[in-house]
Amino acid sequence: MKNRHGRIFLGICFSVFMVIGLGWLSTGSAMDQDKVIQLPRPVHTGKMSLEETILRRESVRDFTSKPLTLQEFSQLLWAAQGITRKWGGRAAPSAGALYPLEVYLVTAEGFFHYLPARHHMIPLSDRNLLKDLCHAALGQSCTREAPAVIVLTAVHERTSGKYGPRAERYIAMEAGHAAQNILLQATALGLGALPVGAFYDDRVQKALGLPGDHQPLYLIPVGHPR
Ligand SMILES: Cc1cc2nc3c(=O)[nH]c(=O)nc-3n(C[C@H](O)[C@H](O)[C@H](O)COP(=O)(O)O)c2cc1C
Repeated sequence: MKNRHGRIFLGICFSVFMVIGLGWLSTGSAMDQDKVIQLPRPVHTGKMSLEETILRRESVRDFTSKPLTLQEFSQLLWAAQGITRKWGGRAAPSAGALYPLEVYLVTAEGFFHYLPARHHMIPLSDRNLLKDLCHAALGQSCTREAPAVIVLTAVHERTSGKYGPRAERYIAMEAGHAAQNILLQATALGLGALPVGAFYDDRVQKALGLPGDHQPLYLIPVGHPR
């Protein structure tokens, strides 16, 4: 009888261990949101002058499959929204310094959220979402074939709290500033990029699992021009 109780007790212990252990394992294999990717410091000098960069910038829609380096991602994300001032000012101007833009990165390796304050990325998914993004962007192949797509989104309430209905205009302007910085930075690095505005907001939101208040404004495929 004692043995039987012992076996039952061991059985319960084993089951509890399996449930907790497997749960832990499955959490570990899913995207670990605490696992930040620290980006290398962005460089502040380049080989191409601003004038030459403006002259060379053009929309690139055909890319090779060569992946971008972490240093290139660092530079592009810094150009979009990196911190450039001691008080927290960023690379692109913002009405009332309210910074409504949120920047995401989609690559074959996963989906990442850029956080300017620490210049790092938080992995949100390890799935390749480029194909889903392409469907949301009316099948534009550049959004699937580029090695990376930078997604600019905005949280309207950050700006509308102060500026009311005028916020919509300000936010669109800010997305333009950030996008142009990315396009010029890509050009200066010898990369190609393209601003894509034709997509279904709700489908992009769904494809990426974006929070409901993060409205997608721009998709920017970037890579090595073919
Ligand atoms: C707001 C905006 C939205 C755009 N959307 C798209 C798009 O969805 N797909 C695309 O292929 N190009 C898009 N473009 C790129 C334009 O087609 C391109 O800028 C234009 O043809 C001029 O060429 P360039 O950029 O080489 O000077 C967009 C440009 C802007 C400014």
